[in-house]
Amino acid sequence: MDEKTAEMLAEKALKARESSYCPYSGFAVGAALLAADGRVYTGCNIENAAFGPSVCAERVAVFKAVSEGVRGFKALAVAGGPAGKPASSLCTPCGVCRQVLTEFCAPSFPVVCAFTDEEGAKTEWRIMSLGELLPESFGPGNLE
Ligand code: THU
Repeated sequence: MDEKTAEMLAEKALKARESSYCPYSGFAVGAALLAADGRVYTGCNIENAAFGPSVCAERVAVFKAVSEGVRGFKALAVAGGPAGKPASSLCTPCGVCRQVLTEFCAPSFPVVCAFTDEEGAKTEWRIMSLGELLPESFGPGNLE
């Protein structure tokens, strides 16, 4: 994926993080999912007083897209860190989100893990493939 696209997604994930509802963990996450048709679906983590119903930012983005009939994806960006502070350390998708991505995306699918400097002024990112994040995964192919 080109630098410009990675940066665009990184910025959208950081922006989506601002909508995070995380009163229990105090950890705010944002995600931006680029669909094959060029649309970007964003998501944030949404927590719940009963804890169990809480959902991650990445899954909100995937479910928004799939619920609108979109199943082809090019890349995902994620950014997370303590709420109210810049997301200045690396945040990778949790295991459940890796599994959900595996349902729709190939092992080569790029995951842009975005972060900023301590002041939140400069955006950086590290790109990992879904295959690196979830090797030897169980996916739709296993049920064919
Ligand atoms: N979280 C995400 O939204 N995505 C991740 O990749 C890691 C974790 C959320 C879940 C919970 O609301 C909070 O971050 C702390 O785990």
